[in-house]
Amino acid sequence: MNNFEFCNPVKVVFGKDTIGRLFVLIPQGSHVLLIYGGGSIKTNGIYEQVTDALKGFKVTEFAGIEANPHYETCMKAVQVVKDKDINFLLAVGGGSVIDATKFIAAAAYAAGDPWDILSKGKLIEKALPLGVVITLAATGSEMNERAVISRVSTRQKLNFMSPLVFPKFAVLDPQVTYSLPARQTANGVVDSFIHVVEQYLTYPVQAKVQDYFAESLMKVIVEEGLKVLAHPKDYDIRANLMWAATNALNCWIGQGIPQDWSSHRIGYPLTAQFGLDHAQTLAIILPGVMSYMRKEKEEKILRMGAVIFNVTEGSTEERVEKTILAVEDFFRTMGLRTRLGEYRITEEDLDQLVEPIREMGWKLGEHGNIDWQVAREILRLRL
Ligand code: NZQ
Ligand code: ZN
Repeated sequence: MNNFEFCNPVKVVFGKDTIGRLFVLIPQGSHVLLIYGGGSIKTNGIYEQVTDALKGFKVTEFAGIEANPHYETCMKAVQVVKDKDINFLLAVGGGSVIDATKFIAAAAYAAGDPWDILSKGKLIEKALPLGVVITLAATGSEMNERAVISRVSTRQKLNFMSPLVFPKFAVLDPQVTYSLPARQTANGVVDSFIHVVEQYLTYPVQAKVQDYFAESLMKVIVEEGLKVLAHPKDYDIRANLMWAATNALNCWIGQGIPQDWSSHRIGYPLTAQFGLDHAQTLAIILPGVMSYMRKEKEEKILRMGAVIFNVTEGSTEERVEKTILAVEDFFRTMGLRTRLGEYRITEEDLDQLVEPIREMGWKLGEHGNIDWQVAREILRLRL
């Protein structure tokens, strides 16, 4: 196990009917900017619960954060923060709304061009405090310090991290996910599964706590994921999926171990250039990364195959192949496509897809050996 220092300061409030707790979680006297997305919270009762809990606070609303949140929209919210003297941000939504809120929190104090936070990794020295009511179990953004923002004008999608944008609290009521469309539920299952994989499927460093914890999360996500589309209003299924998704990316399982994240980075341009949902990009790319990196990842692929998908028969090569197919099959059973061709993306699009990786000079994967050319090969496997 490698050395690590770790602090996750997010207070989690989990369970049925917990949105009312906002009243005590937000500092009294705050001027709150309530940030949300395209309006789903107005049709499923979440908006009423939130505004009831905020009675007694001064509240300004900012609606219209897009899925894969736009830099341009975030900057409009930054202007509202400055004009209205906002001192607390409340995100009510999925990963997109939370990520946008984190960026707004940081950009509100940024000297110079706020885009530098994303494009140049500019250090964040100050950020507004923020809280979260999560409505979609997927990204783990409710309990981490990361955010991913897209710039429409340049078709770029980039991320940043800062301990200053950890939410002060996250309210997780699994009942709010009952209203999710099947596509978003399935996206959440696949995204959270791959978050575990990005941290687990590298090479062994004898980190037993992290490995067993990661395996338990994958088991829960596969077991409950395979039930949830048929039982969207089953509290226990939703609760287990929600807590698994949070733990998949609240940084606990990633301490002291090598991490990959190449599927995520290769996937960003698929969203920015072709509009695929985040999880849709991952369902295509992960089997390609597993396949291309099968030698480097062999020990962990075999272990994952045995523990999660019951792949125990055959030669090493056969078990590796069966595990890759089992992973792809899981995504397809959840209703996601796993080939670029299914989105009409062809070999001719590949150069443009890997251009951002070339431009940023990224060397991805746990060995730093996936550059734009290797990324192109991985994508070619998925045509
Ligand atoms: O816009 P609204 O009305 O909120 O509707 C959303 C949106 O259309 C809808 N939705 C959310 N909760 C709902 C609901 N509809 C009905 N009932 C509910 N309870 O679902 C749609 C998708 O929402 P979105 O927030 O975009 O989904 P998700 O949570 O999957 O977030 C995706 C974004 O997070 C980033 C992705 O790149 C993408 O931009 N990620 C953030 C990470 C992080 N911060 O750590 C890590 C991830 O790997 C990921 O990259
Ligand atoms: Zn993800």
